[in-house]
Amino acid sequence: MAQKYFNSLNYTLGNEDTTLEVEMIKKLKPQSIFSVCGSGGRSLPLINEKTKTITLCDLSKYQLALAELRHVTYKKLSHQDFLVFWGYCPFGETDYSRKRKELFHSLELAADTKKFFEELFLEIDYQSVLYLGKWEKTFKVLASICKVLLGQKVIDKLFSFHSIEDQKRYYETEFPQAKWKLVLFLLGNKSVFNALLYKGDFIKKNDPQTHFQYYFSAFDRLFTTVLARESFFLNLCFFGKIRFHEGNPIESSSETHERIKNSDAQVSFYSSDMIQYLSSGKNKYDFLSLSDVPSYFGGDLEKSFLQQIKSSLNPGAIVVIRYYLRICDTDINGYKDVTNDYADLLRHEKVQMYKVNIYQFKS
Ligand SMILES: C[S@@+](CC[C@H](N)C(=O)[O-])C[C@H]1O[C@@H](n2cnc3c(N)ncnc32)[C@H](O)[C@@H]1O
Repeated sequence: MAQKYFNSLNYTLGNEDTTLEVEMIKKLKPQSIFSVCGSGGRSLPLINEKTKTITLCDLSKYQLALAELRHVTYKKLSHQDFLVFWGYCPFGETDYSRKRKELFHSLELAADTKKFFEELFLEIDYQSVLYLGKWEKTFKVLASICKVLLGQKVIDKLFSFHSIEDQKRYYETEFPQAKWKLVLFLLGNKSVFNALLYKGDFIKKNDPQTHFQYYFSAFDRLFTTVLARESFFLNLCFFGKIRFHEGNPIESSSETHERIKNSDAQVSFYSSDMIQYLSSGKNKYDFLSLSDVPSYFGGDLEKSFLQQIKSSLNPGAIVVIRYYLRICDTDINGYKDVTNDYADLLRHEKVQMYKVNIYQFKS
């Protein structure tokens, strides 16, 4: 069968630790939220008991369909069935295809979304879609190369720790640094990502560090501040999947599940370029999570996007941006940089590949 649907999703799990925004929202209690959609894993957990409206925006209708499916599974399934349906740990190993099929057919979805997933699930025999995205498949390849270069024993040791001091000591004294540097040198570069994933559209880096230095220092921060088994990103890098239940991302916690299930927030899915949508001033938001989308802008757009979106912001609105390999030269007139107010949350972020900037809209 032609793999028509199988190849349409770019992110099915995602690569951001949404804990940052979730914790911010618990304090800020915004009523209206805008978020780049992605897999839905980065955006739906922003729903809080005070949320009245949340807009999930994406260029890709397939990513929006995936988020709609995620949303319905939060609403309709028990927490255990939710984990089984998506194949989060510990339900990623056994074959749950029969149960998944039954659960899928119990869901009420918009006709287009239902048709898309019916055909997709037929193609993949009702296996989980959690690692089906192009990004997740790329990391499966990277993990298998990493295993060859580092060896399974080293990887198992790195993930064996339950105390950050022990992990740090191992990383600083016994971890095979020369082999690790070779892994980063061979895999952490533009050509590999372009070949495997971005087809030439990989971010135009302007960060002064080389790719090697960028990735080395990001992983160095991770290994010394976050337990490897608790980082879904490290689980993906070294196993190609979430191997430890502690590594399940925030979107799959029972607390997040409960929060979304009980919310009566109005959830809208919007297929558009986010700047086009936000510059229309159609709706006003208190909290915006823009993912790393601005890192791909460049030129005039990179400079002006924060000015262009002002008509969609309520006074005091918070805008969270993840910069990746690129420091955007952006006009922040009318905004206050409040990144340092969240320094502690940023230090414990479980991906560490982004430079996060947080702005508050003044007027
Ligand atoms: C930039 S990607 C990064 C993935 C993200 N880190 C995650 O974990 O899901 C996030 C999403 O942004 C969408 N996207 C990219 N450019 C966009 C734009 N200009 N407007 C709206 N969505 C966009 C992509 O389709 C993708 O689903």
